[in-house]
Amino acid sequence: MQNPTEQTSAQFLPVHLALVQPGTVPPVALYLRAGAEEQFTLYCAAHTAFDEEARGRLLGRGVQALYVRMEDEGAHSQYIEQNLAAIIRDDLLPPGEASRLVYETSSRVMQHVFDDPRSGKNIARVEPLVRVAVRSIMKNPDTLWEVTDLASHDYQTYTHCVNVSVLLVAFSLKVLDIQDASALESIGFGGMLHDVGKSLVPAEILNKAGPLTDEEFAEVQEHPLTGLSLVEQHRELGSTEAAIIRSHHERPDGRGYPDELQYQDIPRVARVAKVLDCYDAMTTDHCYARARSPFETLSIMKRMDGHFDETILNGFIRFLGPEGDRSR
Ligand SMILES: [Fe+2]
Ligand SMILES: [Fe+2]
Repeated sequence: MQNPTEQTSAQFLPVHLALVQPGTVPPVALYLRAGAEEQFTLYCAAHTAFDEEARGRLLGRGVQALYVRMEDEGAHSQYIEQNLAAIIRDDLLPPGEASRLVYETSSRVMQHVFDDPRSGKNIARVEPLVRVAVRSIMKNPDTLWEVTDLASHDYQTYTHCVNVSVLLVAFSLKVLDIQDASALESIGFGGMLHDVGKSLVPAEILNKAGPLTDEEFAEVQEHPLTGLSLVEQHRELGSTEAAIIRSHHERPDGRGYPDELQYQDIPRVARVAKVLDCYDAMTTDHCYARARSPFETLSIMKRMDGHFDETILNGFIRFLGPEGDRSR
């Protein structure tokens, strides 16, 4: 072990005790901080079993947080991802932290999916995550507003996917009254991966400040179908998941893409996704456009004739309610 006096707080990250679960073997070394001094002593080496008794002893000493080395942050995040369901059920976890953990973990996983969209391993990480997120939203639907506050203000396709997924699950639960967990999981999964096809569109096109040429727009329009085939290479898709990924740009006036479906042929879940997708994109900052307020966004969307299912858009406005006035 290093001399504790040589170590500074800049080298360590605090982790709340709830993020070290009894009955697991954390893959990273855990440290204790001695008083207010910047002194850290090794509490247990990496790959040491941690149990209830150990937690009880720490709590008995008034310890609320352990520390991990900065360079172990990735390994600890992975540990959080693997134990997320237990962590967010843990009574020790401070209020509001469950939403933050689910949001951050989802963003991290989606970033990996976008970095390497052909990896079946990354796609396989999405489903268990969505399961945890759905349980958390079902248990506490107000999670949505906590997440709205947490949501990244800067548009990134991977955070956009997390935002759309959370909005889709919450809207389906509260407005469409879909109470079945596995149905909500399919909806959440589709939302999470709805734009995965954009990972194959060149960044210069996605981030282009000016209007797209016809060729560039044609390339963007391929993302629902390329996304579908990316996911289908690794997993059989249910009809809900496939509908969200394939048809979230279809328009009730038949002028959407990729299939130019007529209103009655667009699955309802895809019509919902179309509304929430546009709302999230317009309320976050892009490199080419500043975020609009929820109120301004909804006013613009109301005027976009033929783009949205009116009943769903009105339901979404009511769903946001006073929250719609929040500026993000
Ligand atoms: Fe899209
Ligand atoms: Fe999208």
